[in-house]
Amino acid sequence: MRQIRLSAAVLTALALTLPATGVASADIRPETAHRQDTTLRDAAPSGFVIGSAVAGGGHHQDEDYPDPFTGDQTYRQLLAEQFSSVSAENQMKWDHLRPGPDEYAFEDADAIVEFAQANGQDVRGHTLLWHSQNPDWLENGNYSPEELRAILQDHVETVVGRYAGQIQQWDVANEIFDDGGNLRTGDNIWIRELGVEIVGDAFRWAHAADPSAELYFNDYNVEDVNAKSNAYYELTRELLAEGVPVHGFSAQTHLALQYGFPSSLQQNLERFEALGLATALTEVDVRMQLPDGGEPTEQQLEEQADYYARALEACLNVSSCESFTVWGFPDRYSWVPNTFPGEGGATIYWDDYTTKPAYDALRETLLAAS
Ligand code: G3I
Repeated sequence: MRQIRLSAAVLTALALTLPATGVASADIRPETAHRQDTTLRDAAPSGFVIGSAVAGGGHHQDEDYPDPFTGDQTYRQLLAEQFSSVSAENQMKWDHLRPGPDEYAFEDADAIVEFAQANGQDVRGHTLLWHSQNPDWLENGNYSPEELRAILQDHVETVVGRYAGQIQQWDVANEIFDDGGNLRTGDNIWIRELGVEIVGDAFRWAHAADPSAELYFNDYNVEDVNAKSNAYYELTRELLAEGVPVHGFSAQTHLALQYGFPSSLQQNLERFEALGLATALTEVDVRMQLPDGGEPTEQQLEEQADYYARALEACLNVSSCESFTVWGFPDRYSWVPNTFPGEGGATIYWDDYTTKPAYDALRETLLAAS
């Protein structure tokens, strides 16, 4: 069973209600209590962005809780207080934005951008060209290559144009290689039907629609120097040589304790920096195989905290690494149990919004770098 953790607000309230002759409030405060005042975004070094995904859509639609972003006030408050950037977890994907070939549904995406502006946050747009979460009308529409190209161009220009100056980074192309470093010519409709040239076109269209946005390649399992990250390295070099406006490379950083820490993460970011790119860690979480009781062990929590801190340190050590974004919180909103049954515990917050050791490790790492 895990220990009860008290938030700073609860501790303050407790201290205020304790009788003067009772136990001194200092005696019941865990050592971390006073540090709760410094949020992650406040702890970050100047110019370094600390983000979170905005939970909504996707797997949340199958759950019995209300939409987290619009329906959970504590969630919204922490999202605003703790983070200086927000990423749309699902709300800017094709299946969300495009109910029909001639329709755009911007309401949920607009709400995220408005929230970010109200709270002085950056927005990361996710994503424009992907093999997954595409609507049926697109995947099964029997469009000709010319029609598909026009559909993608219209989408990129319309979506990026709508948020010009308001979305600072776009994951233009998401997960275009498999783990062996081969282009997804089977399941990525754009690459299958139009060839890899469509990737460069997507970057060009996005840049024309918002010249101020930073345009990224984004993928998982590219934290290390490996076949997949090599494929990005080579493609990026080619595109840059052709003058394609690629500005960044980001590693999603979905880690798992059972697979070990990607020890060449910093080295990998450095080689993309050497190409002149910005880098970022965009979807950080650290999952684990949960014991029968469903609660992580103390040892797992420590190891998880260590993984989070090491990933953040790798990013902080590379000057081009501009942001570190966690893929949502708390654990009950995480995508992990839905995708990997038996695994979970991946985020930095418990379900009651008290913080985990991983949260403290991130904050201490940020403070040490500030
Ligand atoms: O579309 C089907 C629908 O036909 C079906 O009826 C329904 C039944 O469960 O599932 C629907 O698919 C869901 C999908 O979202 C679209 O709504 C999946 O179950 C659900 O697992 C999926 O979740 C999202 C996932 O992306 C999809 O790939 C998660 O919420 C979201 O956190 C996750 O985020 C991705 C990033 O975009 C890219 N990097 C990896 C990351 C984690 O998978």
